[in-house]
Amino acid sequence: MEKLAIDGGPKAKKHPYGWGPRFGAEEMKELKEALDQQSLFYYRGTKVNRMCATFARMIGAKHCTAVTSGTAALHVAVGALGIKPGQEVITAPITDFGSVIGILYQNAIPVFADLDGHTYNMTAETIAPKITRKTAAIMVVHLAGNPADMRPIMRLARKHKLAVIEDCAQSYLAEIRGKYIGTFGDIGCFSLNDFKHISCGDGGMVVTNRKDLAPVIAMFADKNYRRTPGGSPLREIAALAPNYRMSELSGAVGLAQLRKLKRICRRRNKVGDAYTRGIADIPGLDPHKVIPGGTCTYWFYMMRMDAKILGVAREAFVAALQAEGLAASAGYIPAPLYEWEIFRKRSAYPGTHFPFDGAFARKGILYRKGDCPVAEAILDTAVRIQVNEHHTAADVKETIKGVRKVAAHYLAKKGIELEG
Ligand SMILES: Cc1ncc(COP(=O)(O)O)c(C=O)c1O
Repeated sequence: MEKLAIDGGPKAKKHPYGWGPRFGAEEMKELKEALDQQSLFYYRGTKVNRMCATFARMIGAKHCTAVTSGTAALHVAVGALGIKPGQEVITAPITDFGSVIGILYQNAIPVFADLDGHTYNMTAETIAPKITRKTAAIMVVHLAGNPADMRPIMRLARKHKLAVIEDCAQSYLAEIRGKYIGTFGDIGCFSLNDFKHISCGDGGMVVTNRKDLAPVIAMFADKNYRRTPGGSPLREIAALAPNYRMSELSGAVGLAQLRKLKRICRRRNKVGDAYTRGIADIPGLDPHKVIPGGTCTYWFYMMRMDAKILGVAREAFVAALQAEGLAASAGYIPAPLYEWEIFRKRSAYPGTHFPFDGAFARKGILYRKGDCPVAEAILDTAVRIQVNEHHTAADVKETIKGVRKVAAHYLAKKGIELEG
């Protein structure tokens, strides 16, 4: 058996991972055109509008509004649905904090549902027990490019008359039997931050197929002004709304990026699925599971390890993978969101317990370790491998070889032989 790199042996990864530029002549051309318009205001220019129309067409949504971030997109969704102070929104404990910011700004209460241990997504079964008389909506987070099983979730939502927001920030063009995520629920939200499949620096998109919601979304993202062609906006403000308008500069870059999106997602899907095939037979390693009929566009690849079966602690296993030259890391976020200080102390606004003890909130809501045991187990056992559209077939092959080499080393110590 080959000596591990961490013990001085040769590395499994012989070449650096493939890399390529994200931005180039296409973005530059759109940016120049945006500047030549002599207005960078979305309502006067063409870029933001075209970006929205292009994206809506691509995923089969009727309406799209651009905003300044994924966080803003989710805030707009909560606001446009008219979720009231004290009402509850059921969401995922493993996500970016941006998922819950808008809920809290609307003085609503995030309630966390546990996850499937292998898709890392919420399911109808984990959501159902969290529904109370205060529940107004479900915010489904499609984690890491992986589509949550939306059909049973939509059946559950309809039964309880709940709105559904899809947080698609990490999951561009993920689909279930030909239908893109973001189009199952009432509203789909996307991020264009610097780390996502496509980026305009910072930005977001809000999509809906609901005709009644489309103007409410557009207004909520723009101070609740009602824009009218040619004239000045109607400023009859009946409710509070932020200004999350996207500028034409961001729209220009976003528009150019959209032309690359299908290729990027197709490649990420191939890379991630290849990892699953490459590690599926390794005792003690569970691949990143995708639901039947689902297509995952892997924002990252996350497997889980059973330290007992493999006979090595996760940190040591990951150190060995890294020594082989693999882009591997342990875990994801430090803890489920409900263990973060803001929830632990139940204090979104310093010096108060607001909105958790607000007049409209259900009494006695607490956030404690143990609330979502599967989510906690996922974070304790996760091993992540970076996925990028520039990674080559050789990158994938060497990475799989590296994982198998390290796993085989530890399994051999326990008398388990790993083939190939
Ligand atoms: C699942 C998820 N939701 C929301 C967000 C927030 O997006 P943004 O950073 O664009 O505000 C992110 C960003 O990391 C995310 O990954």
